[in-house]
Amino acid sequence: MRKQIAAANWKMNLSWQKGEALLDAILAKEYQLTANRTAVFAVPFPYLHLAQQKLQGKQNVFVAAQNCSNKKSGAYTGEVSAEMLQSLSIPYCIIGHSERREYFNETNQQLAEKTDLLLEYNIIPIFCCGEPLQIREANTQNAYVAKQLEESLYHLTTEQVQKVVIAYEPIWAIGTGKTASKEQAEEMHAFIRRQLAQKYGQEVADSISILYGGSVKANNAKEIFAEPDVDGGLVGGASLIADEFSVVIDSL
Ligand code: G3H
Repeated sequence: MRKQIAAANWKMNLSWQKGEALLDAILAKEYQLTANRTAVFAVPFPYLHLAQQKLQGKQNVFVAAQNCSNKKSGAYTGEVSAEMLQSLSIPYCIIGHSERREYFNETNQQLAEKTDLLLEYNIIPIFCCGEPLQIREANTQNAYVAKQLEESLYHLTTEQVQKVVIAYEPIWAIGTGKTASKEQAEEMHAFIRRQLAQKYGQEVADSISILYGGSVKANNAKEIFAEPDVDGGLVGGASLIADEFSVVIDSL
């Protein structure tokens, strides 16, 4: 059975005091979580250790970083390495979020390097892909996403690629309130899985979790997550509101 994940991406929001209160409010509720049905909180770097301490003893709830360096170590002021994340026992790291691609010019090649480093340090990459609006309007989104996968992931071995979580996030749906319809989400998720099957075989493709991101909220999570190739969500805005994200977790 594929892992189902409700992942909160706080992005660059909240003081630690507000973040801690948010975590407290979300974690105060009971969820039916299991090893294959988990919640993940991608918090800003300075809160990783604090959040990790807060989640101690909570079953099937994990902390994630929102990014890491494509360099192993050295004179890269301000960067955070995969090794540093491992030293804090951080199990997940988002890479290739469209905001990083757009505002920090991250390339598919750099994301291949980040993927390698994360896997080397036993951290699960949550690899983001997805097309901008003009690509969707030109109906060339499949080729666009296929290229992102190919250039960042296809150098991995079968064993390695099975450790990666993919997050499909159509850029036109991020923070816009414009969610992809459940049919649009499923269509792309199924396409991604077919691509993975072509490269690595059906069994491997069937084992890889593909999350949907883009205006997921309490009122649409359940129907999107019910699609056969959607294995949960990567949630921005709604993850900052306890009542919203609690429902998202319950929608897994
Ligand atoms: O990482 C999360 C995605 O960018 C989605 O953000 O839920 O605010 O649209 P959003």
